[in-house]
Amino acid sequence: MTAVSIRRMNEMDIDGVLAVEQQAFTVPWSRDGFVNEMKNELSHYIVMVHEGKIIGYAGMWLIVDEAHVTNVAMLAEYRGQKLGEKLMATLIERAKERGALSMTLEVRASNTVAKGLYAKFGFVSRGVRRNYYAETGEDALVMWCDQLP
Ligand SMILES: CC(C)(COP(=O)(O)OP(=O)(O)OC[C@H]1O[C@@H](n2cnc3c(N)ncnc32)[C@H](O)[C@@H]1OP(=O)(O)O)[C@@H](O)C(=O)NCCC(=O)NCCS
Repeated sequence: MTAVSIRRMNEMDIDGVLAVEQQAFTVPWSRDGFVNEMKNELSHYIVMVHEGKIIGYAGMWLIVDEAHVTNVAMLAEYRGQKLGEKLMATLIERAKERGALSMTLEVRASNTVAKGLYAKFGFVSRGVRRNYYAETGEDALVMWCDQLP
């Protein structure tokens, strides 16, 4: 079992998070995107660390009692070990501690793995944003968890 710790992300973590981001997404966020997120009072980002290396991260915007998940990603070689689930569980805990009652996110319609992960926490699909992902024209499902577990 991989021993990991999870802590709040800070600016020093941006290089490590970018490595995860660039591996996980076809249109990754830029460095400036993360720099801005670190300054955004509504943002809360966490990193998962193994032997000093960032192996995953997740983030959200906390808007009154709603948490809007921006990203959840693990380095490929660490996937499939329930670590993404642990990361998501921690994000939900952090959201609840900060007053969130519900959580929402967008996910690619084809992303079976992520949809399975979110379903485990009680997320259900509530709508579709057509052609949300400009590079492929793929739809996004809008998922909600109305009562955080
Ligand atoms: C989505 C992601 C964070 C999941 O992390 P992970 O560590 O691989 O997932 P876990 O091992 O914690 O598994 C949690 C659940 O995800 C789903 N899942 C994980 N791997 C799966 C696979 N190969 N096939 C189908 N479902 C899978 C299952 O529902 C699983 O629960 P189960 O094992 O009880 O069936 C990771 O795959 C990732 O970084 N993907 C690329 C980035 C991404 O798509 N992020 C989501 C953007 S919205």
